[in-house]
Amino acid sequence: MALLPILIAPDPKLKLKAVRVAAVDESIRRLMDDMLETMYAAPGIGLAAPQVGVSQRVIVVDIGKDENDRQPVRMANPEIIWVSDDDTPYEEGCLSVPEHYAAVVRPSAVRVRYVDAQNEIREMDADGLLATVLQHEIDHLDGILFIDHLSSLKRNMILRKLLKNKKEAVPVR
Ligand code: NI
Repeated sequence: MALLPILIAPDPKLKLKAVRVAAVDESIRRLMDDMLETMYAAPGIGLAAPQVGVSQRVIVVDIGKDENDRQPVRMANPEIIWVSDDDTPYEEGCLSVPEHYAAVVRPSAVRVRYVDAQNEIREMDADGLLATVLQHEIDHLDGILFIDHLSSLKRNMILRKLLKNKKEAVPVR
């Protein structure tokens, strides 16, 4: 397994619509495992392939509390096929938007259809934190970041700060 570099916003690769996976084969399984390792190391509770520069519809999630409570979820081509009528605000963050957090309102519960690591079509019902994380990660596959759900004022303020940090990180010669 390998740690993958995580892209930080603003980055045009984070805005792409990712393509569907034809089949979950050995290379996709390796990508899923590398993404999980990268997510645990960060640490984070969800990661989408576009965040590691791979424009394919693959996400991984684990909302387990710690390393003794691992609940890894590997999904290819995840699709939200049902959402609840009621919404919940949740304080979200993102490994591609480091050190910024904001409340995003999303449906409280969802049903997701996806292809698992064995290339089988499955469905998962989720509520609470898991529902939020799944919606956040699936958004990434369509080039949508959680800050895109905020007002343009808030979004631009966060993007300006991220850009400033990026420029300061470049070594001056
Ligand atoms: Ni994210």
